[in-house]
Amino acid sequence: MIPPPDDIDRLMAVMQTAFPPEYGEAWTRRQVEDALLLGHTFYALVSADGREPQGDEPAAGFFLSRHGFEEEELLLLAVDPAHRRKGLASRLLDRLAAEARARGAQRLLLEMRRGNPAEMLYRAHGFAPIGERLKYYRTPGGERLDAITFCRDFN
Ligand SMILES: CC(C)(COP(=O)(O)OP(=O)(O)OC[C@H]1O[C@@H](n2cnc3c(N)ncnc32)[C@H](O)[C@@H]1OP(=O)(O)O)[C@@H](O)C(=O)NCCC(=O)NCCS
Repeated sequence: MIPPPDDIDRLMAVMQTAFPPEYGEAWTRRQVEDALLLGHTFYALVSADGREPQGDEPAAGFFLSRHGFEEEELLLLAVDPAHRRKGLASRLLDRLAAEARARGAQRLLLEMRRGNPAEMLYRAHGFAPIGERLKYYRTPGGERLDAITFCRDFN
């Protein structure tokens, strides 16, 4: 899925505000562009009022996902801190579920650092933990953090 350059600008603007720098989770523009070039990587943007951004309107949130055989992995989900707790991430997850099903996915997968408050959101959307990778992430400060894999089955 090759997006117009202004969509990447909008997505990167959210990326730069949304991720706490101490975990080093934000992707670079190059990483996003390379992922989208693969052809089975998808994204969606949401504006502050929950619609798709129009014209020059900035995005307030986005997801990035990768479709594999019968499953889709949520790679990134982010909402600008100025627009949190207004249901935008929920809206993005609903959209991801609908689009992934339409692409033939039987389940959604994601990986999250242990302790990320996003866990509450994922559980509310039907995700449950199915595994963990101990000390999988390394922060810019050198700390090792566990990854938890969550799955939502559509069946
Ligand atoms: C996680 C994140 C995407 C949530 O975005 P959001 O738009 O604020 O989420 P929503 O408003 O849709 O939340 C819906 C529900 O999820 C839960 N939830 C969301 N964020 C939460 C938090 N920080 N702590 C506890 N529960 C939370 C709540 O139940 C919330 O409902 P409520 O506001 O009525 O209580 C956002 O905080 C973010 O961008 N975080 C940094 C990036 C990140 O860690 N992404 C996930 C890993 S890739």
